[in-house]
Amino acid sequence: MDMQPIPAREGNHNLKQYQKKRQNFDWNEVKQNFSWNQTGKVNIAYEAIDRHAENPDKKDKIALIYSSPDREESLTFNQLKNKSNQFANVLKKHEVKKGDRIFLFMPRSPEFYASFFGILKIGAIAGPLFEAFMEQAVRDRLEDSEATMLITTPELLPRVPQHELPHLKKIVLVGESKDISTDYIDYFKEMESVPEEFSMEWVDLEDGMLLHYTSGSTGKPKGVYHVHNAMIQHYATGDWVIDLKDDDIYWCTADPGWVTGTSYGIFAPWLHGITNVVRGGRFTPESWYGTIDKNKISVWYTAPTALRKLVSAGEKVVNQYDMSSLRHIMSVGEPLNPEVITWALDAFKLRIHDTWWMTETGAMLIVNYPVMDIRPGSMGKPIPGVEAAIIDNEGNKLPPNQMGNLAIKQGWPSMMRAIWKNPGKYESYFINGWYVSGDSAYMDEDGYFWFQGRLDDVINTSGERVGPFEVESKLIEHPAVAEAGVIGKPDPERGEIIKAFITLNEGYSSSDELVEEIRKFVKMGLSAHAAPREIEIKDTIPKTRSGKIMRRLLKSWELGLPTGDTSTLEE
Ligand code: PRX
Repeated sequence: MDMQPIPAREGNHNLKQYQKKRQNFDWNEVKQNFSWNQTGKVNIAYEAIDRHAENPDKKDKIALIYSSPDREESLTFNQLKNKSNQFANVLKKHEVKKGDRIFLFMPRSPEFYASFFGILKIGAIAGPLFEAFMEQAVRDRLEDSEATMLITTPELLPRVPQHELPHLKKIVLVGESKDISTDYIDYFKEMESVPEEFSMEWVDLEDGMLLHYTSGSTGKPKGVYHVHNAMIQHYATGDWVIDLKDDDIYWCTADPGWVTGTSYGIFAPWLHGITNVVRGGRFTPESWYGTIDKNKISVWYTAPTALRKLVSAGEKVVNQYDMSSLRHIMSVGEPLNPEVITWALDAFKLRIHDTWWMTETGAMLIVNYPVMDIRPGSMGKPIPGVEAAIIDNEGNKLPPNQMGNLAIKQGWPSMMRAIWKNPGKYESYFINGWYVSGDSAYMDEDGYFWFQGRLDDVINTSGERVGPFEVESKLIEHPAVAEAGVIGKPDPERGEIIKAFITLNEGYSSSDELVEEIRKFVKMGLSAHAAPREIEIKDTIPKTRSGKIMRRLLKSWELGLPTGDTSTLEE
């Protein structure tokens, strides 16, 4: 669909300032917004919470508005400071030290945010896990990170295979349970017994703060390691892209188990001292519109998959709610359909600003700014201070309109600093000083970037990244499954769905019941979002002579496309 550009609107910075900044951007200027620039004392938790709590004008401002179907609660910056101090004291009491990996496996709740900042305040590294993970996904991440403590709820505890995790020394349980034995630390009891004063562990800008596990096309999920320095870019994009103003009510819909939920669900708004809305519970169009209406949300960061669901819910639903508080909408995670942009112009009288980035990049890199024309279907342009290009496989820049690897010049502040315990994998992301994203794209004559697809087999289903290897490994654990190949199949609402091709072991025959059982096996063992929506039973799965599943061939078959080079196919 070819659409006219949608003209710019006003923002924190005008187009002239933006163009000037792009010519000679200096990240040092952003550093002036942080107290460590004067004091030399660094901790992202201080900048996001305590600094506002120590400011008489900000201390009683609402930091967090939490609502879920069965609970509503708000916390001021001062309250969040005290609660996270208390949790840091709990950690101290249990001998947690700087650099330890402390994981969180729980739904969004005020306790989640208090714990999260408590971990950062003691200088430890936080590892938030998506609440829908099942045993295998939880085990892989805790094992690889060698986490020593986990904060979870009694409901999620059965998914934690404690006896298989020798490093995991302690578990904090948030919530009441009959069978809380003395082996566990009771969150609420401990919090009562510790003071609200804590002396922050000052760290280096290059010290670790966060591990986010994400999927590649091969192997188990990888621990993407981020450091405190990332705050520079969280802050800068909060200004230039999210366009935050002091009295904004901000809502990021992402779960903190994913990077959007930390960089933009926690850091960017709170580094700016903005009121942040967090909604627990399941998605329905009514509950989402209701959240905007009730809280008078002004800035909203969400994902195409949710927007597409809102579009299909129809105008009648949106018209029952007051959307007039909205000023600025952004999207991330998958291609944003031009149709959705058109719909939003009508439904909200606003543009949707697409943003492109990855778990590895830590913050937004290519975006649509409030002050620039949007070309629907384009991800926009690089933020000031970042150079993006399309390169060939040798690292040479390609001219406009030519498709190739979307790459970023190394050295932006929020870039991952390592893949946990896997230096080889980290190195493999870079060619000639360029970070290679794994996405294919082209740039037009005017510098707008256009996403074309993934170059590897990584699947993007409803904006969530799933590695086919993880799903295949789980599938073949089922006694009936001999071999498995997993691909992403295009889907109008979810972007892609997961489709598995399997062969059966001797003695099993194909039936609907068996297929359903295998699907449930992945869902209950790994996680719901990684379970294949379609499973097709085959006589053989195409493999290379060295035994690698040829997912590309499976995909071509599925889509009815030419199969390309099959010279490496096994006999
Ligand atoms: O393929 C791109 C897609 O999501 C991938 C990164 O996924 P993840 O690490 O889970 O991070 C998602 C949110 C930061 C990218 O390699 N992706 C992300 N944003 C966009 C996108 N695809 C198209 N358009 C986008 N705006």
